Amino acid sequence: MCPPAMALTNDDEFQKGVKHLFENGVSKLPNKYILPVSDRPKVDKEHPNAAKSSLKLPVIDFGELQGPNRSQVLNSLSSACEEYGLFQVVNHGIPIEAIRSMIDVSTRFFGLPYEERAKYMSSDMTSPVRYGTSLNQRKDSVFCWRDFLKLVCHPLSDVLPHWPSCPMDFKEVAATYARETKWLFIRITEAILESLGLWGATTEEKTEEDDEILKQFHDGSQLMVVNCFPPCPEPDLTLGMPPHSDYGFLTLLLQDEVEGLQIQYKGKWITVEPMPNSFVVNVGDHLEIFSNGRYKSVLHRVFVNPAKPRLSVASLHSLPFNSMVGPSPKLIDQVNPRRYKDTDFATFLEYISSCEPKKKNFLESRKLT
Ligand code: OGA
Ligand code: NI
Repeated sequence: MCPPAMALTNDDEFQKGVKHLFENGVSKLPNKYILPVSDRPKVDKEHPNAAKSSLKLPVIDFGELQGPNRSQVLNSLSSACEEYGLFQVVNHGIPIEAIRSMIDVSTRFFGLPYEERAKYMSSDMTSPVRYGTSLNQRKDSVFCWRDFLKLVCHPLSDVLPHWPSCPMDFKEVAATYARETKWLFIRITEAILESLGLWGATTEEKTEEDDEILKQFHDGSQLMVVNCFPPCPEPDLTLGMPPHSDYGFLTLLLQDEVEGLQIQYKGKWITVEPMPNSFVVNVGDHLEIFSNGRYKSVLHRVFVNPAKPRLSVASLHSLPFNSMVGPSPKLIDQVNPRRYKDTDFATFLEYISSCEPKKKNFLESRKLT
C-alpha cells in the first residue's frame, strides 16, 4: 500500500531535510519552502540569461602571485576585494586529488541512509560536528532548499574524533582537505595583509607586529560547511541559501560543476560560473571590519535547479574564536575614522540564534554611525 499522501506535509518531516524529501519523490514544492514573491530568485522571462551577463568576475592566478609579478597581482587582488568582495583563484597549489576526494567523500556521506546522517544532528551551535537543514531549522519560518554538514576544524586533533566515521575514509579525506585549505588561506591572507600595507613583502620590511597578526591567523578558527542541494521541483519559488554575507575573514568555497552561487553586484545578481579546479574566495564580515570598510564582504545567495544535485564545500576562516575583531589601528586616521565597533564570535552567535540572519544585518549592527 502507498504511504498516506499526508506523510510529507507533517512539519517534522521538514526537519529531516531536503535530501529526505527528494528521496521520497516530492513533486511539488511544499509551502514550507515557498518564499514571498519579493524574495524569490527573479527569472526575467524576456532575458532568462540576465544573471549570466558577460561580466567577468576577477580571477587571481596564485602561481603569478607567488612569482615576480606579485605587486601587479596584489593590485588586482585589492581591486577585487574593494569592488566585488570576491575573486576566483586558479593555479592554487592544492592537489587536484585532495579536491576530488573531498567532493567524492561528501557525496557519499550525503548518500548514506537518513538515519546514519541524522546521528550528527545537533542544536548545539558549538558542537564540533553538526548535520542539519535550512539555515536554522528551529527558527526559520521559511526553509531553504539545503542540507549541510558543519565541521569545526580547529584544533584538528581535538575535533577529529567527533567527525563522521562513515564513510570510513571521511575523516582522513576531510582532514587533509582542511589542512590544504588552511594553508591556502594563510597564503592568501599574507597577500591581503600586504595589499592593505600591513605586512611587509620582504623579511627586512616585516615588523614583529606584522608577524603577530599572521600568527593569530595560524591559530585561527576554521569551520567547514558541506552543502548539499538536491534537485528541487519548483526552483523559482525558493532558494538554496538566502542572501547573506559570511561572518569570517575569508571563505574558500569549492563548488562542483553545477551552477548555483550568485553574488550581488551593483544591485544585480551575477552567477559565479563554476571553473574547474578553482576556489571562490569571499571577503567575510571580519575582513570588512578589519580593513575598516576598504574591502567589502560580499552578499551572495544560492539558487537551485530541477535536474542536477549540487554540492559545495565552504571553508570559513578567521581569528581565534575568543579574540576580538576590530579595524586595524594602521587603517584608522583623520581621513579614515574608525567605522566599526569591535566584535567577537560570541556576539555573532548570540545574534544569529536570536534572529534570522538576513543580508548583511549583523555587519550593519557593528557599524558606527
Ligand atoms: C555558504 C555559501 C555557497 C554555495 O556556505 O555560506 O554561501 O555555493 N555557500 O554553496
Ligand atoms: Ni556564504
